[in-house]
Amino acid sequence: MTEPTKKEILREVFDRAADGYGHIRYFPIFGQWLVDTAQIPTGAHVLDVACGRGAVLFPAAEKTGPSGRVVGIDLSEGMAQETNGEIQKRGLKHAEAHAMDAEHLEFADGTFDYVLCGFSFQFFPNLAQALLEFHRVLKPGGRIVVTTWGEEDSRWNWWDKLRSKYGAVVKLGSQSLDTPKEIKPWFSEAGFVDIDIITKDMDMVFADEAEWWNMQWSISGRAGLEKLDAATLENFKAETSARMQAHKEVDGFHDRLQAHCTIAKKL
Ligand SMILES: C[S@@+](CC[C@H](N)C(=O)[O-])C[C@H]1O[C@@H](n2cnc3c(N)ncnc32)[C@H](O)[C@@H]1O
Repeated sequence: MTEPTKKEILREVFDRAADGYGHIRYFPIFGQWLVDTAQIPTGAHVLDVACGRGAVLFPAAEKTGPSGRVVGIDLSEGMAQETNGEIQKRGLKHAEAHAMDAEHLEFADGTFDYVLCGFSFQFFPNLAQALLEFHRVLKPGGRIVVTTWGEEDSRWNWWDKLRSKYGAVVKLGSQSLDTPKEIKPWFSEAGFVDIDIITKDMDMVFADEAEWWNMQWSISGRAGLEKLDAATLENFKAETSARMQAHKEVDGFHDRLQAHCTIAKKL
């Protein structure tokens, strides 16, 4: 039997995570920031790549209004289904979500005014190919707007070390895009111009340990947690809980999240 590819593992992990993913509070906050930064006008045609549960898609649909159109695509069928369910619930006729690979877009050249993508570039095994696809499906003068994670809160460095100690790691990312210096060349090599990068820091407060653990089970890191047997997982949780107390304040557990938003244009 052949080993599953990184992409196959990702698809399955995000299918399993799709349900809980919708409860992560910071994705809609950063999604709104991405869309506000994009300055999308009424009537625009928008592609949201790796749409997940619609953190970017829903604010984008609000900006375009019903005279525009927003299409979300995601490798995970589960994510696309959940997002379509929410689109129907909200009665939006100008939004839709499909299962599709970012590296192989099933759209004609020059279809969209905007290509948006929230926190997914690290997962594309062939990011150069994906960026060429985004460039191809944009109209001339169209814009790409992308968020990527910045540097991690150093106060939480123990978490990666503890995960490694317990063997709770599966490496699913393909590249690091933590700094503007690392981000920019990807866009220029795909032919984009007027590349601008802005940075936002957010003090994320997890109300309790349960909310923090739900987040861990709803992102790609879940693949590592799934490797542990029940007894090891219990020990791991106990040690994590002890370490987490250092981040506790009256309102909950604090983690500084940093994101970059890159805006660029197709000539
Ligand atoms: C961290 S989530 C981000 C979701 C959403 N954009 C947001 O901001 O909440 C990453 C998403 O990327 C999707 N993904 C990973 N690789 C992909 C690919 N090759 N093509 C399309 N989607 C992909 C995953 O299924 C997952 O939904």
